[in-house]
Formats: sequence, C-alpha cells, structure tokens
Amino acid sequence: SAQLNTAAKAAGKVYFGTAVDNGDLSDSTYKTILAGGDFGQVTAANSMKWDATEPSRGTFTFTQGDAIASVASANGQVLRGHNCVWHNQLPSWVSNGGFSASTLQSIITTHCSTILTVISEIFNEDGSFRTSVFYNTLNSSFVTTALQAAKSADPNTKLYINDYNIEYTGAKATAVQNLVKALKSAGTPIDGVGVQSHFSVGGVPSSYQSVLSAFTSLGVEVAITELDIAMTLPSTAALLTQQGNDYKTVIAACTAVPKCIGVTVWDYTDKYSWIPSASPGKGAACPWDANYNKKPAYQGILNGF
Ligand code: XIL
Repeated sequence: SAQLNTAAKAAGKVYFGTAVDNGDLSDSTYKTILAGGDFGQVTAANSMKWDATEPSRGTFTFTQGDAIASVASANGQVLRGHNCVWHNQLPSWVSNGGFSASTLQSIITTHCSTILTVISEIFNEDGSFRTSVFYNTLNSSFVTTALQAAKSADPNTKLYINDYNIEYTGAKATAVQNLVKALKSAGTPIDGVGVQSHFSVGGVPSSYQSVLSAFTSLGVEVAITELDIAMTLPSTAALLTQQGNDYKTVIAACTAVPKCIGVTVWDYTDKYSWIPSASPGKGAACPWDANYNKKPAYQGILNGF
C-alpha cells in the first residue's frame, strides 16, 4: 500500500520525514518503521543542538548527532541539521559567558561552520527580535554571521531560518519575510524558511497556504519542519478523525505550493512525542499511536499529497 515518502515524491516534494531522538533508536520496532519506506528525511530532535554539540568552548562532540546521521545514511534519508543558533538548549558557557561582540561573533562562526544548519526562533510574536545572548551582544548581525559561516563551511547545504507562529498572517510572519528580503538584498546566503507547524486539532490556520506562498514568492523555498497536531487527552474517535482532516489540510497546502519542498513530523509516534511533557494534558499528536498503529492522520497525510 501507499507510503508517506512515496506519496510526497509523487506530489513533487523532496521528502516526507520525521524527527528522531537518540533514545528512540534503542527501540527496534521504532527503527524498523523508520527504515520501512515512509520516511525519506530525518531531523535530530535534540542531539545536534548547541548544548549537545559544543558543551564547552571549542570542544565538539558529535557522537549522538552522528548516530542519527548514520541511521539516516543507512536508510538513504536526507538529513536536516537542527540547529546552529537558538536561544534554547544553549550551554551556559554561551548564554552566561559575558563575551564581547567580537568574541561572540567568532564563537558563532566557529559553531556554525562546524554545525551546519538553521537559525531558530529569533523573533517575538510582535515581530521584534527576541532577547538572547546573540541579539543582546550583536544586535541582528548574528544572523548574517551564522549564515555566512555555515555557507563557507559547506556551500551545498541548504540554509534555513526556522520559526513557529509564522504559519498565519501577522507581525511575526511579516518579520520573517522582511528578514528574508533584507538578507537577499544584502547578498547573504539564505535558501529557505522552516515553518514549524505545531498545531492543535481544529487549529490549522486558514491563511496557512497563503503564508507559505508569501515566503516562496520571495525566492526561497519553504519546508514544514516540525509538524504535529495535538489534542486534549483523552483522544476520542471524533478527535482522531478531525486530526486526520487537519493533517490532510496541512499536507495539501504544501502540495499546492510548488516550492514547499517537504514535510517533517516532530516524531512519528505518540510514544516519543514531546507534546505531553511540553504541554501537560495534551498529546496524541503524531500519525502513529504509542503502540505503532497508524491513526487516521496517516491516511490524512496520504490524501493530502
Ligand atoms: C524539543 C524536543 O523535541 C524535546 O525533546 C526537547 O526537550 C525540547 O525541544 N521547536 C524546536 C525543537 O525547534 O527543537 C523542539 O524540540 C520543539 C519546538
């Protein structure tokens, strides 16, 4: 029967993928499904973040990240690095370092030319830059520093800015559009916008597809990077049906936007979803349940492509 990555490719997309955490890989059922044809791409859920990769200055540890990369490679899956500059999961030597601007700039350059990937969650809801050690020390120039460092380390890797609450029209989506325009006109490398898409059942924004198109009209690609659709527990048949429709709506929006290149779910099974710990009382957000049964969401994804 049809599978998710096959359906994505038939719709002209590059991949359908999933987040994978290192602990997941000791679960043999998990690994079997991961390798079973539904997924053409993986994102490390945690092990390529700054705290995991450069826990002390200049000391890089890639063991955990490499474990994800080697599974992806063994499965023939595209790897999305996640992430290079983010205000969360930063080791305290970075967040509390009290570095001068030039020192922090060189720290970012070293980190982002060693860790290839995205800039994550740099805007507040009103479109202003988020307070972080990066913004506080360097103003917005850290974005250019990080992108240029990543580009010079690997000219072939796609460089993305990733954020949440940019799935609908508003100040934050506009801020990302303005940043993309400014980067492009300055000649700074930027290939795409990652639209996280952590939704709740019934809550897919009506402006979703038009926002995706608004990004691609600026000359960048978009990817849906962290899709999950949570519900208030316990799940019911009605909620699961609605969730299936919501997954279909999200996928159909990507299908309809030619430069939406792929979709990644923020883990494929409820067994390892981050939602219950991040949002107590909510969960059941993924296309497979905690016992690895496919939910209506699985068919919803197929129907959306
Ligand atoms: C989450 C991981 O899934 C959790 O295991 C971790 O405790 C916190 O981070 N947006 C992102 C992801 O960009 O990196 C986050 O991942 C989920 C929200």
